[in-house]
Amino acid sequence: MKICMIGTGYVGLVSGACFADLGNNVWCVDKDRSKINLLNNNHIPFYEPGLKELVIKNHSSGRLKFTDDISLAVKNSDIIFICVGTPTRKRDGSADLSHVFNVAKELSKCVNKFKIIVTKSTVPITTGDKIEKILSKKKNKKLFEVISNPEFLREGEAIRDFRFPDRIVVGSNNKKITKKLESLYEPLIKKGAVFFATNRRGAEMIKYASNAFLATKISYVNEIANLCEKANVNVEDVSIGMGLDKRIGGRFLRAGPAYGGSCFPKDTKAITVTADLFKTDLSIIKSVIKSNNKRKTLLIERVRSILSNKIKNKKIAILGVTFKPNTDDMRQSSSLILVPYLIKKGAKITYYDPSGKKSEFKKIKNVIYCKDVKNACYKADLVIIHTEWDEFKTIDFKKISKGKKFKIYDMRNLYSPQKMKDIGFSYFSIGR
Ligand code: UDX
Repeated sequence: MKICMIGTGYVGLVSGACFADLGNNVWCVDKDRSKINLLNNNHIPFYEPGLKELVIKNHSSGRLKFTDDISLAVKNSDIIFICVGTPTRKRDGSADLSHVFNVAKELSKCVNKFKIIVTKSTVPITTGDKIEKILSKKKNKKLFEVISNPEFLREGEAIRDFRFPDRIVVGSNNKKITKKLESLYEPLIKKGAVFFATNRRGAEMIKYASNAFLATKISYVNEIANLCEKANVNVEDVSIGMGLDKRIGGRFLRAGPAYGGSCFPKDTKAITVTADLFKTDLSIIKSVIKSNNKRKTLLIERVRSILSNKIKNKKIAILGVTFKPNTDDMRQSSSLILVPYLIKKGAKITYYDPSGKKSEFKKIKNVIYCKDVKNACYKADLVIIHTEWDEFKTIDFKKISKGKKFKIYDMRNLYSPQKMKDIGFSYFSIGR
């Protein structure tokens, strides 16, 4: 099929490259010409495992094309996916839909024969209705159909999540259009993906309700971890014991620092704002947001007590600063609260992250980027494992500590407390 992705961020570029890899002809559009030039020279503007290879393969085959000319792409496509960002609006926490509506206005200028317009960006319930209104100001309603097809891609696993989704959700009241989307996703359905059709608002709601639920699950286990620490229980055992109940499920029950990323914080906030507009109080999700924000300071308290309140002049090594492994994304990472706090208290910080040096810390004095674990931990008083990159799972602490035994605060429970005690380390973790 002939499709176009408007927006070449995590959603548009990954989905576009994956659709091309399924044999479709895909245009990826971005109004930022410098981004398009980078892509036409096979430079990917962000880190996502496997994406560069996928883009190069499909770009060279001619199936995947990049342009800043939206009318060229729309003219050559039957299905138009809106994949632009919907960031949090500072003043009220709602989703900023200005990019989405600008695309809708652009489309109303260049749609001249029937097109399926699909929102793949995460958009609040009723956004499809608003896009339809914008389009019908300039275009006959027979020339387009606006539907919802939310993505469920995790950063760092986006290509796998595209290729092996648990479900493909399409929201449309038009059976013929739903069928068209079903055939676009046919190769994935054949491999076991469930195709679920509902109406447009239903699909918009499924996306937000899913993300808010996952955030709730994480905050739930994080609070249980707090209780486990007081009651001398191992939260890892609790997660396993709970997760064996199929109604609960074992995934997303790993206790850790507060959840971060560009989605959970944004989407939990946005759905509560939407609910308020509908005069419905989503008190559980509101408490999840509060609990997650509180957790960032709670863990800082823990660092203080591990250092017996003496942070000044302490050398602290932080392993991993991104919000999760296999991404370079720092958005809402708890390290963005932790590092400035420790610096303010007089600590000297070294950090190492496999995705490289972070601009977020460039302007902060006494924060030094090191090129590996050994250098970061050199003469440290405390080593904090903040992000669970694979290479942090097999550190030979004895070897790198060279006699001076630093304390370890493992925020991802990568190591066994008993084993660390046996090799003489003062080891702290989460919920154990
Ligand atoms: C999330 C959703 O998983 C995905 O379906 C949606 O499309 C986009 O938002 P993402 O934000 O990329 O994906 O990362 P995810 O793997 O969900 O992790 C989000 C945060 O939760 C990270 O900070 C991670 O460390 C944390 N997390 C995740 C936990 O603390 N414990 C867990 O068990 C799982």
